[in-house]
Amino acid sequence: MKVGFIQMTPEFGQVNANIKMAEKMIRTTSADLLVLPEFFNTGYLFSDLQEVRELAECVPDGHTTTQLCRISHETETALVAGLAENANGTYYNSAIMVTPDYLVHLYRKTHLFDREKLFFQPGNTGFKVFEYLETKIGIMICFDWFFPESVRSLALSGAQIIAHPSNLVLPHCPRAMITRCLENRVFGITANRSGSETRGGHHLDFIGNSRIISPESNILGQCDKEDHCCIIADIDPSKADQKNVTGRNHILSDRRPEMYHTDLCHGS
Ligand code: ACM
Repeated sequence: MKVGFIQMTPEFGQVNANIKMAEKMIRTTSADLLVLPEFFNTGYLFSDLQEVRELAECVPDGHTTTQLCRISHETETALVAGLAENANGTYYNSAIMVTPDYLVHLYRKTHLFDREKLFFQPGNTGFKVFEYLETKIGIMICFDWFFPESVRSLALSGAQIIAHPSNLVLPHCPRAMITRCLENRVFGITANRSGSETRGGHHLDFIGNSRIISPESNILGQCDKEDHCCIIADIDPSKADQKNVTGRNHILSDRRPEMYHTDLCHGS
């Protein structure tokens, strides 16, 4: 299965131009699954709720979802991409997965980062796994990586590939995802954006460094901070079903949830 990511620099508020930029990059390659960044169509730094209201879109009927469905159908590529979602006046930082046969799946970001909390509601979908080409694909968005429960929940639900649209600003995620993939024996595709944004008195530099990671913690593809690129790796998703690290250690069935409690011991 050919899987990969698009790393790009969206221009804030220029939805049509950003979709066009993504489409051009998608059409330079041939893949079964491509992951695009968080908020790939709008940019990241919303100044106020009014901007969110103007740029958030309905799923599945909104403009961006419709365009991604068209691109997915024409290129025969499943796409995972982040966008601001308007769900009847409630706003979520969401990601959709669209497939060439016009199926649309939705995930709403569970762990909101910093100022996202001013404008978006915490996601209520939970971590979901979607099947495409007999492969189980789980979605999380950017800061979800900081919570090991995110990838673990997806792995326990059978995810073989973690599609991870991102707008990373902290430096740690590319290293952390190596561990997340190893400890869950899954493939990870982090699609980050490049560039910077200065808006509403705030400035953010995005770290780029998008990556494809294997269940054995190998880097199968990556790009640098400022790159605009589309990187593909040819993978066998069934490798993620191999959860044994020794003949006697299966990383999921060796778990002991009954021991994972939080009682504070005060001594005897
Ligand atoms: C982030 O969650 N966009 C850092």
